[in-house]
Amino acid sequence: MHSVQEISPEIFWVGGNDRRLERFENMFPLPNGVSYNSYVILDDKTVLLDTVDSSITDLFIENVTHVLGNRPLDYLVINHMEPDHGANLERIVKLYPEVKVVGTKKTFEFFRQYFNTDISANSIVIEKEGTEISTGKHTLSFYFTPMVHWPEVMVTYEKSKGILFSADAFGTFGALAGNLFADEVDFEHVYLEDARRYYTNIVGRYGMQVQSALKKLSSLEINMICPLHGPIWRENISYFLDKYNHWSLYKPEKKGVVLFYGSMYGNTENVVNALANKLAQKGVKDMRIYDVSKTHPSYIISDIWKFSNMVIASPTYNLNLYFPMHTILHELSVLGFKNRKVTILGNHTWASVAVKEMKAMIEGMKDMEIIGEPLDTRSSLKSEQEAKLDELADKIYKSLDE
Ligand SMILES: [Fe+2]
Ligand SMILES: [Fe+2]
Repeated sequence: MHSVQEISPEIFWVGGNDRRLERFENMFPLPNGVSYNSYVILDDKTVLLDTVDSSITDLFIENVTHVLGNRPLDYLVINHMEPDHGANLERIVKLYPEVKVVGTKKTFEFFRQYFNTDISANSIVIEKEGTEISTGKHTLSFYFTPMVHWPEVMVTYEKSKGILFSADAFGTFGALAGNLFADEVDFEHVYLEDARRYYTNIVGRYGMQVQSALKKLSSLEINMICPLHGPIWRENISYFLDKYNHWSLYKPEKKGVVLFYGSMYGNTENVVNALANKLAQKGVKDMRIYDVSKTHPSYIISDIWKFSNMVIASPTYNLNLYFPMHTILHELSVLGFKNRKVTILGNHTWASVAVKEMKAMIEGMKDMEIIGEPLDTRSSLKSEQEAKLDELADKIYKSLDE
């Protein structure tokens, strides 16, 4: 059966959830599932905004045909071509052959790359920002938000009600449990961690582009944000805008320490535990410790983004850096991560490479400050080295105040 909700008069959510998918983009674990949002406007003209992933095609088609009833589909707006939203575009075009398809120049390039159906006769290419399409009571205008997080992306602003269809921006992992609105759920407890993990790992590299999009959209009166994943915002929108602002400026949300380590036999882990205990006794609260071989990097990256300080600890491996640690630091650098305080702990038995490598990788990122002398353990930490650990704990603690 169809499964839809009217989210505003004449505007319907026709999306769905996938709670079975193990990993988003075949990389990021989804313990709480994911939603694919899609919207229909029933005005004098009818509009479908984006489609959904292929995993929920059957339900989606049922939803769309139920809401449209016997009416034709007049417009299909493509805000984003990525297959988690674009998978059903060709199907919709075949189901409604008269539909006018709205997108950017790049949208249609990508459409041709993914599909074989020629839609050139029915394409409306938005060349100028702010171009409007009236559907009767509603007016849609289109704004380009390239690289948030693909080059073809635009967002659609419905003028009469101030509704922003924001593509992947303001999206989050986590399926919807019937409650479609952020004000109907305990967002901070149920979605915030997933929202941060979604932003940092999927959009994180494009902070500058997110900033330009935020600036561009700041002149619009926005009463509701309808993203392609996760809850819809209609209250306290500034709360989530503020999170996006922090994240895209690479500014920590919180003064605090996340510690993550690679450890083959527990000796490097032991150094991290000893340091964390000292920090806790000094009064540092809400610390996180992760084993890079155990926890998926997307979670660690999300917390690295949140906190002001990190402690990284790794042994040398094959005369290089232990590779799960290398993966995380490499990904941070790919994401353009910057502006944090870092303490480095290494370990080796006969050749010391890890400290050098970690230091070089951190120094390759912008505005990173190394706190304390890197401590390089030989095989296992000895009690006579405790003073060095105390010194590091002291410097980290002081740096939290700066
Ligand atoms: Fe996307
Ligand atoms: Fe998406």
